[in-house]
Formats: sequence, C-alpha cells, structure tokens
Amino acid sequence: MTQNTVTRAVVIGTGHYLPARVVPNAEFAATLDTSDEWIVSRSGIERRHFAAEDEATSHLATNAARAALAQAGITADTLDAIIVATSTPDLTFPSVATMVQAQLGMTSGFAFDVQAVCAGFIYALANAHALIVAGTAQRVMIIGAETFSRIMDWTDRSTCVLFGDGAGAVILEGQPGTGTAEDRGILSIDLHSDGRYKDALFVDGGVSTTGTAGYLRMQGKEVFRHAIEKLAKTAESALEKAGLTSSDVDWIVPHQANLRIIKGTALKMGLSMDNVIVTVPDHGNTSAASIPLALSVGVEQGKIKPGDLVVTEAIGGGLAWGAVVLRW
Ligand code: ACO
Repeated sequence: MTQNTVTRAVVIGTGHYLPARVVPNAEFAATLDTSDEWIVSRSGIERRHFAAEDEATSHLATNAARAALAQAGITADTLDAIIVATSTPDLTFPSVATMVQAQLGMTSGFAFDVQAVCAGFIYALANAHALIVAGTAQRVMIIGAETFSRIMDWTDRSTCVLFGDGAGAVILEGQPGTGTAEDRGILSIDLHSDGRYKDALFVDGGVSTTGTAGYLRMQGKEVFRHAIEKLAKTAESALEKAGLTSSDVDWIVPHQANLRIIKGTALKMGLSMDNVIVTVPDHGNTSAASIPLALSVGVEQGKIKPGDLVVTEAIGGGLAWGAVVLRW
C-alpha cells in the first residue's frame, strides 16, 4: 500500500547576529531611577545588545542570513524567497527583505516583510509554510530582525530597560513527508489577533499620523496578563492540531520578553524549565528577532537536534499571538 505524501517545510539552517555593543542593566541606573535588581527580578533581563549608529535592521538581518546560509551550506542564489519579520524597518519602504536580497547579491526570487510585532516570526513561519506547501517556493529564508533601541523613550524606565536589538534567520526547504507527526518540518500552526487591545502595546507615531517613527508605549501589566492567559493556550492548540500533547515536546522556544512569562507558560504546559530555550537574560526582548535568535542559540549550544519536537510561541502588539509546532 502506498502512503499519501505531503510536502513539509523543514529547517535546513539557522544563524543569528547580535550587534557588538552590550549594555548591562547598570548603565540605565546612571540616568534613570532603576536598578539591576529591579530589572532582573521583574523581567530576568541582565543585558542587551544595541546596534551602532550606522547599523540598521537590514544590516543585522543580512549578517544573520549569511550565518544561516553558511550553516546550511548553500548560497543565496538557491533561495526562492526571503521574508523578514520586523516592526523597525530601515525605511518606510522598500521592505527590509528586498534590502537583504540585494545585500546578499540575490537577483532572483522574491522578498517581502511581515509585521506582527513580537509575534512576527510566528507569522513569517506561517507564510513560509504556506508558500512551500502550495509549491510557490521551495526554499525560503525567514529572518526576524529588529532595532527596537530606535523606538525607545529613554525617559520611560518601564519600557526602555526591556528591549534590545538583534536578528535571527532560519532557512526552510520543502521535503516530502508521510503526513504523520513523525515527519520533520512544520506540523501545525495556530494564529490569533485581537485589535481591540491596540492600546496595551503600540508605537505613538507613524507615516499617516504623525509622520514620525514614534516611541513604544506599553501597559506592562495588561500585556503580562494576556501573555499568561494566551501563550500556553495557543501552544496547546497547535499541539492538538498536530495530534500531540505537551508530553511529546522536547523544546519550547518562546518569545523572549520576560522570564516570569516564560516560566509561567512552561508551568501551565506541565513542562520543566529544562525543556525551555532561554536567551532573555542576555538579549532582552528583541521582538520578532527573539525566537529565531533563540532557535539559533539552541542549535549552537547543541540542545536542539534533528528529530526533536519544538514548539515556538509568541505574543505582542496588536495584540497578535500564535504558536508553531515543528520537528527539527
Ligand atoms: N525600575 C524601577 N522601577 C520600575 C521600573 C524600572 N525600570 N519600571 C517600572 N517600575 C516601577 C513602576 O513605576 C511601579 O511603581 P509603583 O508601584 O510605584 O507604581 C512598580 O515598578 C511596579 O511596576 P509594574 O509595571 O507593576 O511591574 P511589573 O511587575 O508588572 O513588571 C513588566 C513590569 C516587566 C513590564 C511586566 O509587566 C511585563 O513583562 N509585561 C509584559 C511585557 C511583554 O511581555 N511584552 C511582550 C510583548 S512586547 C512587543 O510586542 C513589542
């Protein structure tokens, strides 16, 4: 009897890039009424990287892309598409993705950006999966890249200590699967948004309103409440769609916003912190870059290995949230 075959979007390479400048919590205490102790106890963040003045999001993204291409052992001209998840593009247009395409010397294929704030990488994974499964593209590079340091209000201690800059990249390739949860590649996706919560987390400027980039504004407690309520639920929904449960999970790779949220979500899912990739102490919240950064670090540390069941989940501005289940 022949088994039905399906196309799976399988990870063939990861890479990341962090700007050289490391900013420890102590630096904020020099100008703000804050402390290393407050920041660590409330968020788990110890340090973050900030881009240099002449470094834009596309530069971080291109460096991460080059690292992923090297790890996969392929060249940029074999990619069919590039998707960049970002809320901090170099310019209003063109997309960061087309800038990366040019910086990689790639003159074929297509490139575009996705904007779903901290859930951006989850949405980009869903887009890449759809392109691959539909046969529109065979190899897709997805990059999460951000320079949130450019939209910080440095007088607002409740936000500016939480965010950082960086980029991570993942290359997906269409490969045949059997249609079971044993396949490598993306197994299920769960996406949500609810625009009624715009005021919980937004940037107070934009092209068609103020004509400026604006600054990030956040009702931290409100976002925290939604995160605790929604993240475990979306991860469990995605697992259910794949016919799996928490007990099948090798690694949770969460959006790295706050260690308390990460721990709370793992606890709700009945998983130990030994099953969670954690980078928030070193990177801070890098928005759409945080998941691909954590995936790349997890691979580099020898934690995430081929065949492992990985669940990624994120929530951010919109509110927008979701989860992806994949076998590495
Ligand atoms: N240093 C010292 N004190 C501070 C600081 C600071 N950096 N920031 C705030 N405080 C003070 C507040 O003013 C408040 O003082 P008050 O009690 O006198 O009013 C007190 O600390 C407590 O503040 P809370 O906001 O209640 O602190 P909380 O424990 O909720 O932690 C935090 C704040 C870390 C922001 C938390 O709410 C959080 O992580 N929220 C979720 C953020 C998140 O997940 N974002 C993800 C999406 S990001 C995206 O999509 C771009």
